[in-house]
Amino acid sequence: MLTVAVLISGTGSNLRALLEAASEPGFPARVVVVGADREADGFAHAEAFGIPSFEVPYSSFESRDAWGAELDAQLRVWSPDLVVLSGLMRLLPAAVVDAWAPRLINTHPAYLPEFPGAHGVRDALAAGVAETGASVIVVDRGVDSGPILAQERVPVLPGDTEHTLHERIKPVERRLLIDVVRRIATGDLDLASFDASDA
Ligand code: GRF
Repeated sequence: MLTVAVLISGTGSNLRALLEAASEPGFPARVVVVGADREADGFAHAEAFGIPSFEVPYSSFESRDAWGAELDAQLRVWSPDLVVLSGLMRLLPAAVVDAWAPRLINTHPAYLPEFPGAHGVRDALAAGVAETGASVIVVDRGVDSGPILAQERVPVLPGDTEHTLHERIKPVERRLLIDVVRRIATGDLDLASFDASDA
């Protein structure tokens, strides 16, 4: 049974989908802890499923590195097989990436390498593209620049706002994430083959 830690910052709808999938009989992975860099609304999903959680408030630390060191320490308490970033709106320090990659994956609401960064949906909309997408990648030291594990195109429709487009992307993200976690758990997807340590 693959053990998974999920890190969030926001509503955690992708986390919720993973918790629901993991509660299905036969799913080969389970979420053992949920962490966040703030008092995230998504903690409610962890509570609903009886999953422990921890908060490492970014604002309480002198530096990104100090914050990352505490985040790493919290993760080591649970020593998960896989760490999933699902809406964590922070760039991890290199030391944390090096400690966990390639057992460290991220979901992104764009068709990488298109539109990396914190505003992938807004940037796609502003670019006027007819389609964007969702991606699941191995985290490396860059910004959304790691090896792509899964991705799928999502249409941009006339009249889309950032919200409507993001809400169309998220279900695709969730499906890709659940499938990637399942494939990692069953060994179909061997993360050891992704060398994400270089930047
Ligand atoms: C997701 O689209 C994630 O890829 C992006 O922020 C969104 C988080 O949504 N980084 P939620 O918190 O899972 O609802």
